[in-house]
Amino acid sequence: MPIINRIADFASEMTAWRQDFHAHPELGFQERRTSDIVAAKLESWGIEVHRGLATTGLVGVLRNGSGGRSIGLRADMDCLPMEEQNGFAHRSTVPGRMHACGHDGHTATLLGAAKYLAETKNFDGTVHFIFQPAEEGGGGGRVMVEEGLFDRFPCDAVYGIHNDPTTPLGEAKVVPGTILAASDRVFITIRGVGGHAARPHVAIDPVLVGAHVLVALQALVARRTDPLDSAVLSITQFHAGSANNVIPDEAKLSGTVRTLLPETRDLMEAQIARVAESTAAAHEAVAEVVYDRLYPPTVNHEAETARAALAAAKVLGESRVIRDAPPIMGGEDFSFMLLKRPGAFVMMGQKGAGKGGVPVHHPRYDFNDEMLPVGASYFAALVEQELTRG
Ligand code: NI
Repeated sequence: MPIINRIADFASEMTAWRQDFHAHPELGFQERRTSDIVAAKLESWGIEVHRGLATTGLVGVLRNGSGGRSIGLRADMDCLPMEEQNGFAHRSTVPGRMHACGHDGHTATLLGAAKYLAETKNFDGTVHFIFQPAEEGGGGGRVMVEEGLFDRFPCDAVYGIHNDPTTPLGEAKVVPGTILAASDRVFITIRGVGGHAARPHVAIDPVLVGAHVLVALQALVARRTDPLDSAVLSITQFHAGSANNVIPDEAKLSGTVRTLLPETRDLMEAQIARVAESTAAAHEAVAEVVYDRLYPPTVNHEAETARAALAAAKVLGESRVIRDAPPIMGGEDFSFMLLKRPGAFVMMGQKGAGKGGVPVHHPRYDFNDEMLPVGASYFAALVEQELTRG
């Protein structure tokens, strides 16, 4: 696999950066230490740094030659609010915080590409290195776009990667069209009438009503969406009550909704409200539904995906570039960048021999450092291809 030689030379340095980020995870919009380190490294390589986008986000600007073309490369920096169960030396030093999605690796990968490109400058135009906060539900990518990311730092196209523990190291999924789902949240409050648990007939039990609502909602995916389309409704929280002998007057349910098509998203939003409200009404309770559209689907642009595949093939070999794969029902806020600029999001394999196969968001997940030079080589090859000299 032709990793760029110069990048292979500093692979161990990239590993050290990555493991340091892993040991010091920071939640969305709180990535101050990470952001400081990224900024210091970019500046030390002569890259112009702009800070304070979406609080802790930053953009590095590297110009060369006189060409007017520009490209954006994006990495995310935040961790997850969960406890790490790994015992290795670089495990999280912060209780209840863990880099369980590999954003530590994405940040180190983009830094590696930046170091190489600043040193070699084998391109003509402008590279924008976009380091965003708060991908895990906070919408840091959306905030950066709303704060004028692409007005201040114009990009002809924008590209990102995510590590993929289900795909072997050295392969990549570079697929046009919808690759990740819309990710929404739903909050349902059931209001009944509280009372003594021994006198349920004079109360209206929101726990029972909530249970009916939970089950009724499962019919939406099973019976209301096209079997050839995909949707997910997972109610993940159900809170009510404070004592064994008291019927509470309120129950709260919440969960996540994933869809691929806009019409399915509209249907789920409308039908969740209808089913919850009418099921509650059947029991003389009231349901209040708040549907929060979090992230749109991530839709890769056709032409830019072909360009990304071309660059990936230079690093991985044509046979290791997967150009057709079903979408994943996970979500990504890179989707907001792809709504503003053409581009592509690549799922890069990281499953090696006994390494990198633990799924993301798992307490024993770790980013496979062998992916660092692969990802950095891809980014570098993409820049040299898109901003060709002469
Ligand atoms: Ni992630």
